[in-house]
Amino acid sequence: MTNSSGKAAIVSNKKVFSIYGKFVQKSLFDAGFSPVVFLIGDGERYKDFRTLQSALNFLAENNITRTDAIIALGGGVVGDLAGFAASVYLRGLPLLQIPTTLLAMIDSSVGGKTAVNSAFGKNLIGTFYQPSGVLIDVDTLRTLPQREITAGFCEAVKQGAISGEPLLLQTESFLEKYPLRSFRARHADNIFQGEIVRFVAAQVSFKAEIVRDDERESAENTGARSRKILNFGHTLAHALEKTTNYRYLRHGEAVGYGIRFAAELSKNIGLLESKDVNLLNDVVHRAGKLPPIDHLDPELVFEALKYDKKIVDDSLQWILLKGIGKPVIVPHGEIPLSAILASFNSVIRS
Ligand SMILES: NC(=O)c1ccc[n+]([C@@H]2O[C@H](COP(=O)([O-])OP(=O)(O)OC[C@H]3O[C@@H](n4cnc5c(N)ncnc54)[C@H](O)[C@@H]3O)[C@@H](O)[C@H]2O)c1
Ligand SMILES: [Zn+2]
Repeated sequence: MTNSSGKAAIVSNKKVFSIYGKFVQKSLFDAGFSPVVFLIGDGERYKDFRTLQSALNFLAENNITRTDAIIALGGGVVGDLAGFAASVYLRGLPLLQIPTTLLAMIDSSVGGKTAVNSAFGKNLIGTFYQPSGVLIDVDTLRTLPQREITAGFCEAVKQGAISGEPLLLQTESFLEKYPLRSFRARHADNIFQGEIVRFVAAQVSFKAEIVRDDERESAENTGARSRKILNFGHTLAHALEKTTNYRYLRHGEAVGYGIRFAAELSKNIGLLESKDVNLLNDVVHRAGKLPPIDHLDPELVFEALKYDKKIVDDSLQWILLKGIGKPVIVPHGEIPLSAILASFNSVIRS
């Protein structure tokens, strides 16, 4: 990103660009870049091959070269797609992530995973490609809808659950102090600003630490600090998203259910104490209301699970907990189906 006379291709969506686009364009312009803009549709369903192809065509049509840069301005959908495009166009160009959702700030913009979804499942096609930089401005959370804040906090609960009590309790006390309904109104408050910056920084540093030691999620690494543990809550989450065609639940909301399910399952097979399950349920609850899922057919959800094989061989693996901050990877075959069904039923009904 040292080029001060090149082009910068901003990838965003209409909604985010209408709020922050002018500002980003002007900053780039002032820094000597000539910005060009590619807008994608708003929603998970646009994180697909067709959008990727349009993005790549756009880069080629605009003669973007390897000394130019791609700027991802938006949430995780924009970031994952723009990151993928940056990694394959001309075999890779500099990428700057500017995450504008809480989820993208604390999770998706950090760590270098890029992806598009395919008919066979979520994030099945992707690359590892580290951005040249991640620019986080928590002020952008001011315009974020409450549902998206909930989704972001659910990923924060996930990171707390696998990191340990300090990070989880930081999330809990933050939400206790700043209940969701007052969240947006508090943005002008300096104390709030300082606390949200510290909150985001703690989350980012946890994720970065895990990624640093297992950047490519090595198949052999199944330890308690392997990158795989970041998928805590995600096996069920991905199945719920797939079953509902990526339209009903926000990704983070699905993770909220996934966390509660994984905690319940961990308890049902004798790994986790009830008090820890209650703590996780409580923090997810504080993160906000999740859309009901009791209308979903469990058989369809379980059918969708098999596409989420976070694996090397052919078996599904569950990331479970034997305590807060103590993740374990358990092969699907070692878990009785009755425990899975009981956990699922308990989560969808409450
Ligand atoms: N790469 C990774 O490591 C990783 C990690 C976690 C999640 N993800 C991916 O991230 C995606 C979810 O990201 P997300 O939750 O950010 O969803 P998103 O990108 O769909 O953004 C959520 C909504 O908020 C809007 N928005 C974004 N910023 C805004 C702002 N500041 N003000 C107002 N509206 C704003 C968007 O237009 C969208 O409607 C999923 O595809 C998920 O798979 C990737
Ligand atoms: Zn996630």
